[in-house]
Amino acid sequence: MTTPTSGATVIPVATLRESAGAASKFGNSPAQSSPAVTFPLNRWWVAGFSWELGDTPIARTLLNRPMVLFRSPEGGVAALDDRCCHKDLPLSCGSVEQRGIRCGYHGLLYDKSGTCIEIPGQERIPAKARVNSYPLRERNQILWVWIGNQPGGQPDTDPPEYAFHDDPRFQFGGDRYHYEAPYQLIHDNLLDLSHVGYVHQKTIGGNPTQHMNAPFSVNVVDNIVRVTRPMPNTAPPLTYTSVWPFKGLVDRWQEVEFHVSHLLIWTGATDAGAGNADSPELNGFHIRGFHGVTPETDTTTHYFWTVATNPHPERTDAVKVLVEQTASTFNEDKVVIEAQWRNQHRFPGYAQVDIHIDAGPNRARRIVAALTAND
Ligand code: FES
Ligand SMILES: [Fe+2]
Repeated sequence: MTTPTSGATVIPVATLRESAGAASKFGNSPAQSSPAVTFPLNRWWVAGFSWELGDTPIARTLLNRPMVLFRSPEGGVAALDDRCCHKDLPLSCGSVEQRGIRCGYHGLLYDKSGTCIEIPGQERIPAKARVNSYPLRERNQILWVWIGNQPGGQPDTDPPEYAFHDDPRFQFGGDRYHYEAPYQLIHDNLLDLSHVGYVHQKTIGGNPTQHMNAPFSVNVVDNIVRVTRPMPNTAPPLTYTSVWPFKGLVDRWQEVEFHVSHLLIWTGATDAGAGNADSPELNGFHIRGFHGVTPETDTTTHYFWTVATNPHPERTDAVKVLVEQTASTFNEDKVVIEAQWRNQHRFPGYAQVDIHIDAGPNRARRIVAALTAND
């Protein structure tokens, strides 16, 4: 992993060199070259974190496209179809060089555009010797990929900014989880603030009844859904007291912002009565959560998350503790969501019954459905 040289401090996480999705390891066959569109494609999706791309390529299936991600000294970051055009070996089995990636079978060398630029022992390079490439950008230590709804589609915007990864007031850490569940079940979970009291009692939870009874608001602007909920004068949960010396009861807030490819979750607390605006300048505890939720396939998902906080001067291990407890918290979500998905197979076609806390998730699902139809 790469430690940033400026801005926020990142806590090391396990460097992950994943295996590709089971069905996709050997690249696209011609029949798969135009996969069915089941996601909104004309947008930036999270492909990974900057610190994941070191000297070795990463095989990663994103939105049903088996890709190889790599960083070469001359070309920078790149995403190509994970298939050599010679004999189909995954390019992720090869190695990164100064100018690009070299296939591990007979040594064809590809640049970041997917063009073959060298065939060992052969001068002429056929024009067809190339593979698909995808725009891959790095911003605030997040890798963003653009697939588009047309072959060779190019982005019409810059990737989203996420300044908290480079904000000197904050330190952060994170990880990537792999889910055996479709991505919208993770949207549902992140937009629903009430499960916190039941699923996360040991960390960020607190009193379940307080969570279920706390009033919340849902606002939709363009394709962004905001769910906010203040919880004034409540007992701080364990994670909060582990990293911040609260005096007693706290004024707590939860703000979730859904952006189709990622969610931003602002939470935190101040001592009760100290001020109720969520501002890092306040003398309180703040968590800035980044959640990239990227479909791997129709039924599996990559979940890229970080949490950033303003550490209390007396709690030098605050970020380490917060990241560890957040990892436990998100593992609790993973257990629930994967069990939920397995059970939907055991009871196929059964209707779900909505309750009051479903307002935010339902708005997000409507946005995704509309964009998937048009993107
Ligand atoms: S399979 Fe890649 S060079 Fe032969
Ligand atoms: Fe959760």
